[in-house]
Amino acid sequence: MSRIVVTGRVPEPALQKLRAEHEVDAWEGSDSISRQELLRRVAGADAIVSLLTERIDPELLDAAGPQLKVVANVAVGYDNIDVPACTERGVVATNTPGVLIDATADIALGLILMATRRLGEGERLIRSGQAWKWGMFFLLGSSLQGKTLGIVGMGGIGQATARRAKAFGMEIVYQSRSEIDPAIAAELGARRVELDELLTISDVVSLHCPYGPATHHLIGAEQLSLMKDSAYLVNTARGPIVDEAALALALREGQIAGAGLDVFEQEPKVHPWLLELENVTLVPHLGSATVETRTAMAVLAADNTLAVLKGEQPPTPIS
Ligand code: GLV
Ligand code: GLV
Repeated sequence: MSRIVVTGRVPEPALQKLRAEHEVDAWEGSDSISRQELLRRVAGADAIVSLLTERIDPELLDAAGPQLKVVANVAVGYDNIDVPACTERGVVATNTPGVLIDATADIALGLILMATRRLGEGERLIRSGQAWKWGMFFLLGSSLQGKTLGIVGMGGIGQATARRAKAFGMEIVYQSRSEIDPAIAAELGARRVELDELLTISDVVSLHCPYGPATHHLIGAEQLSLMKDSAYLVNTARGPIVDEAALALALREGQIAGAGLDVFEQEPKVHPWLLELENVTLVPHLGSATVETRTAMAVLAADNTLAVLKGEQPPTPIS
């Protein structure tokens, strides 16, 4: 029987799986666990099931001790984990790819619609109590049919977003480290281009790449200046892929038409300049936030944990 520390609240089916075989110490607080409390609790743990709000770094791994075998992140993104530091210590790190593809692609489409159809502005207007009435030119947005969607990062979520956008009549271009399956590219009618070309020709740009040193501020002032003044930027990946201050300036100056953001550079903070703008839709990191998806993510993290503790290959290791 091993000791598993779960760093935050996760859906019950995952806890049941873990408790059936091991001793589970799960943080039950409604707020995130404090760093100090986390460092104290992980001491002597064989496994850590982590949320993306927890930083898994050398200090934490050392606080756990040499018996630690696995860190199972309940997220597909793992920029909160120092993977080389895990590897050096013989700790297997895992994430939850696959299970959140549809939920996240749904939110990307939701933001595309909210931004292009000005739904947030309309909602705020009604709630403000101000008078409004239907008008030929009232809150006009822009249509998706026949427009070009540029997908940055064509993994599972990028492809699922492309599939949805195609159903809305959009043309797809993408930028990706590698070519995608030719059958999928053909099905989507998707053409691979360089980032600069994508930014220049797209009417909507949607980000689906992982965050790391290579993608820090991938979209900054220079990239925004390449976009059409009628174009929109949507980010459901990770906040720091976009230079938020540069984005706020581009939105304020009308350099681009609008944006939809589910993630932020310094969550839970949102850049104050963004909060003043009407042409940006802001939602609080809800990409995978459905009951079904969060349950599947937590269960996959539990399966990863149990496999490593049995000495088996986990289903979804971080390579
Ligand atoms: C959510 O942001 C995730 O990476 O799973
Ligand atoms: C709009 O409400 C319409 O009926 O065209």
